[in-house]
Amino acid sequence: MTSTTTLLHPYTKTTDVLVIGSGIAGLSIALKLAQNHRVLVLAKSAVHEGSTSYAQGGIAAVLDPFDSIDAHIRDTEVAGAGLCDEKAVAVVATHAAEEILQLVQFGVNFTTEGANAQNFPYHLTKEGGHSHRRVIHVADHTGLSVAQALINQVQQHPNIELLPEHMSIDLILNRKRNRCMGAYVLNKTENQVYALTASFTVLATGGASKAYLYTSNPDTSTGDGIAMAWRAGCRVANLEFNQFHPTCLYHPKDRSFLITEAVRGEGGILRLPNGTPFMRDYDPRADLAPRDIVARAIDQEMKKHGIDCVYLDISHKPAKFIKQHFPTIYERCKKVGIDMTKECIPVVPAAHYTCGGVITNLEGKTDLEGLYAIGETACTGLHGANRLASNSLAEGLVFAKLAHQSIEKSFSALAEHTFEAKPWDTSGITDPKEKIMVSHDWDEVRRVMWDYVGIVRTNRRLKRALKRIRTLQNEINEYYHQHTLSSDLLELRNLTMVAELMVLCAQKRKESRGLHYNLDYPQTAKQARSTILKPSKKPPISRKVKTHPR
Ligand code: FUM
Repeated sequence: MTSTTTLLHPYTKTTDVLVIGSGIAGLSIALKLAQNHRVLVLAKSAVHEGSTSYAQGGIAAVLDPFDSIDAHIRDTEVAGAGLCDEKAVAVVATHAAEEILQLVQFGVNFTTEGANAQNFPYHLTKEGGHSHRRVIHVADHTGLSVAQALINQVQQHPNIELLPEHMSIDLILNRKRNRCMGAYVLNKTENQVYALTASFTVLATGGASKAYLYTSNPDTSTGDGIAMAWRAGCRVANLEFNQFHPTCLYHPKDRSFLITEAVRGEGGILRLPNGTPFMRDYDPRADLAPRDIVARAIDQEMKKHGIDCVYLDISHKPAKFIKQHFPTIYERCKKVGIDMTKECIPVVPAAHYTCGGVITNLEGKTDLEGLYAIGETACTGLHGANRLASNSLAEGLVFAKLAHQSIEKSFSALAEHTFEAKPWDTSGITDPKEKIMVSHDWDEVRRVMWDYVGIVRTNRRLKRALKRIRTLQNEINEYYHQHTLSSDLLELRNLTMVAELMVLCAQKRKESRGLHYNLDYPQTAKQARSTILKPSKKPPISRKVKTHPR
């Protein structure tokens, strides 16, 4: 053990490793690191409130003796439309199974009913793009069960301090050493900013699908880690590839709610309002084609027929099977008056997953010494231009393991040094007189992204989006430097930053590939290349204003 969590002076704390984010990636790495080090884990709201808890389908891994790592690799690369990093794919396909066994030891009760692989006690379901049943799950609430098991472990661990309601603002940098030294963090309960310093910092803050008006994600998906890393000077990549999940519950009076792809995996069929199935017109894999194809097909059918939604039908399956496999969805549909055992579910696509992110190597290392990024925050190259269903929890687990090994190695090589973060400066800051600007800008950025940077794009729409987003950024930055901080404001600042990066990536890609479809460049280039953005030495428009500490 290298150091302890101590209060140096008011509003400053130091620890060995600071983990920002409490989803599957953050909690998994915290548990591994805590064997030898003190770990602080931050959650910006309640500990369980993140995308992991919302994951329904399951975790993809080669668990059936008749399946193979090669087949998982091939399926991931086909879905990724030629842009996957071979090594990242191989490492996840190879190591996912052992990390799942660890979850079983932590008490995750994966579904056993209907176990369908030889000598394997759990049921494996199928999702779009998979050539084999390889998705292990807990009914239709896998993420919630995994999150609960990990939270139980973390809460009992003497070396882990879990801090809910702590929202990171920006990374603390030692510019001379090009090293991340922790983060400035808003304690939302005390309304106080802390400087939390650490030998290593891990960004595990999830993705940025909240940038879109309609999303399957919780409110927390505001791209905080991506925005902080970018402001600190890290490169980001492939942010044009935001995945739209084809099937979210459509109800005019309800928020978007995911209807897991496993419904289609177990025989669900997409239909037009008159009952006609349409997916076979788009792809021989029909309803189980990769998500980009299904989401675009739905979008096209909705536009062609001028309809608000399409319909997902699994009513031909026995009611008992439906209730057993999809209890959460069954209850949720019932709440809005739909009995999925007897009738179709109205569905629309919604923003679901950020395939790009902070560039890392295969150890989760970013461009900054001491800073790691794992899970949805990172761009490891696994997903390429489109993520294969249920590969994300697998990625979170495997990269937590790889980043842990790397940090462990780096601890032994770490030179002694002293560093004291400057305390947060609040001079000249006043309480906002009104909150309308923040709430208006939230709505505006999400509407702009939905209308102009959605499932189908054009050069004109992207140009328009960039102009609007930059105007918003100027206003938000000005407001940020004049007013008391709130999590709404910090999230808005991050979300708008990531929205800009998404548009910049989309503009750089002069082709259509995977999740990025541009009517002005409908063809796919022969060679697949990642879109890489480098923070310029002269900061972009959103970084012109004072940097921290002020
Ligand atoms: O459809 C789903 O259950 C989602 C799975 C995923 O995004 O991996």
